[in-house]
Amino acid sequence: MPEVTFTQPSGERITVSADVGRSLMKVAVENLVPGIVGECGGDLSCATCHVFVDVPWVAKLPPMTAEEEQMLDVTAEEPTAASRLCCQITLTEDLDGLSLHVPETQR
Ligand code: FES
Repeated sequence: MPEVTFTQPSGERITVSADVGRSLMKVAVENLVPGIVGECGGDLSCATCHVFVDVPWVAKLPPMTAEEEQMLDVTAEEPTAASRLCCQITLTEDLDGLSLHVPETQR
């Protein structure tokens, strides 16, 4: 099972493992990772699953759709080149060790 680490704004690191094929937003919510809200359930209409991807991982993720890019314009915290909406990232074996940072706020 691949492992993913969510680093909180405080620096606390939360590592979770989950089955391949799961949405990273759902994995975070089910594991009670603070700061990942996922209000719309993954319908790409809330932007409350914003994460900053550790730079070495940015290029390893599947490219963004135009819809995800548009939703990143309405995140509560200013997006960066490393921003993604984690409901749009599906866990694969290749993502074992993925490191993500949770924003200070999602609303
Ligand atoms: S959960 Fe709503 S946009 Fe990701």
